[in-house]
Amino acid sequence: MPDAYRPLWHFTAPTNWINDPNGLIWLDGEYHLFYQHNPFGDQWGHMSWGHAVSTDLLHWQHLPLAIPEDERVSIYSGSVVLDVHNTSGFGGAPGQPVLVAIYTGCKRVPEGGQGQELAYSTDRGRTWQKYAGNPVLDIGLRDFRDPKVFWHEPTARWVMAVVRPDDHQVSFYASPNLKQWQHLSDFGPAGEVGGIWECPDLIEMPAGRTDEPRRWVLKVDTFAGHPGGTGAQVFIGHFDGERFTAEAPTEPHGLWVDHGCDFYAALSWADLPATHGAPVWVGWMNNHAYAKHTPTAPWRGAMTVPREFFLRDTPRGPRVGQRPWPGLAALRGAPRTWPQISLNHTADDAGDGSVQEVDLGALDGRSIELQWDISAADATQFGLRVRCGPGQHTVVGVDRSRNVLFIDRSNSGAVPDEARWAGAREAPLPTGPLRLRVLLDRCSVEVFTGDGAATLTELIFPDDASRGVQLYAHGGNVRHSALTVWPLAQP
Ligand code: FRU
Repeated sequence: MPDAYRPLWHFTAPTNWINDPNGLIWLDGEYHLFYQHNPFGDQWGHMSWGHAVSTDLLHWQHLPLAIPEDERVSIYSGSVVLDVHNTSGFGGAPGQPVLVAIYTGCKRVPEGGQGQELAYSTDRGRTWQKYAGNPVLDIGLRDFRDPKVFWHEPTARWVMAVVRPDDHQVSFYASPNLKQWQHLSDFGPAGEVGGIWECPDLIEMPAGRTDEPRRWVLKVDTFAGHPGGTGAQVFIGHFDGERFTAEAPTEPHGLWVDHGCDFYAALSWADLPATHGAPVWVGWMNNHAYAKHTPTAPWRGAMTVPREFFLRDTPRGPRVGQRPWPGLAALRGAPRTWPQISLNHTADDAGDGSVQEVDLGALDGRSIELQWDISAADATQFGLRVRCGPGQHTVVGVDRSRNVLFIDRSNSGAVPDEARWAGAREAPLPTGPLRLRVLLDRCSVEVFTGDGAATLTELIFPDDASRGVQLYAHGGNVRHSALTVWPLAQP
């Protein structure tokens, strides 16, 4: 039977389990995507680094396992750097680029223990050697993981951000050669500390306003406390080569990057060429709360659409916004447009719970992009129902009484651990005209507002035959809106 849930254009491994993206780096025209992988099964275990490359972030070439587990350690999350100056000494002939992976080795003895380890490649990531001197940073902790390493130009040395999950801290270390590491400082506890912290990333980027200094964004995932269970929070501030300082005050619960259930462990691509206008990351489109129960085979787990992220200027200070990777437009087929749609929900039927609906007709809503510009609406609630079929639909809605954007998967088909994870997640929304961009790909819904202010990502498992799309409004009208829908083809 064809696999109805396998995404057409989101990244999946050919078979078996995946979780976090690892080691994302661009080198010589190739985007490398490594990922947490169980080569032997569709449950978490035997953690190793899988590998794929792409020249456009759309077409992926699957490569052999890059870094397998061994008798001593499992290979947990981490990053890859290009050691341009061969500081590590792992390089071969002069001018031959050496990639160095810095990952967490999780000891396979019952008492565990995690330290940071190295592997290197002198053939553009095709084959990897583990460093004989591993681990390079072991401070005797059971949990100490997910190193993100980058070259810090002002201090001309490598900097590592790595988490101490139970302490809700990101620790910073520096090294001249990737082998010897010196502790610099710790950040946290801060923001959401209800669950352990994982997978830090630290990125310098332009402020939302050109007259403002650049900022550093520290992203760290939390295992609990996010509205979708697990999720990413960010701190925005400054990194002086030694210490990260958040601009006070942040919200009590951290600044969520994505308010849905299924965006975790995001990592940004290192060394992107200048043609990129903004940093790009992908997250694991899943949730540790139920990832092992998703109804897919022989694969399990996918990455989100690659997303550009940027700082937006808001009255409360800079905030992270996201938009889908613009290159996705290459997958668009012929658009269908509705240049003027209004939804009129009269006062007469306001009391009976009925809604005004517009069915978009014969659309195959399994792999599409929708862009809906709403310039005037007084409805208390309006939105889209996607993947509609008998008894099924998923709502991407706007509730103006509370100014939130939401995805509701209460009627979306199979939901793993339904009692806990059906229902809706929501993100605060600015007032005024609104652009919604919705991406559907077999088992996922990603929604972005045009200004990047709100993003939600949720997995859904509807019947394959549930393909319809409707617009709806109640408690008033949508007076002016324009809609475009593109089918998105398999790359
Ligand atoms: C996050 C995570 C990381 C760890 C990896 C193990 O999803 O738990 O902290 O390195 O997955 O697979």
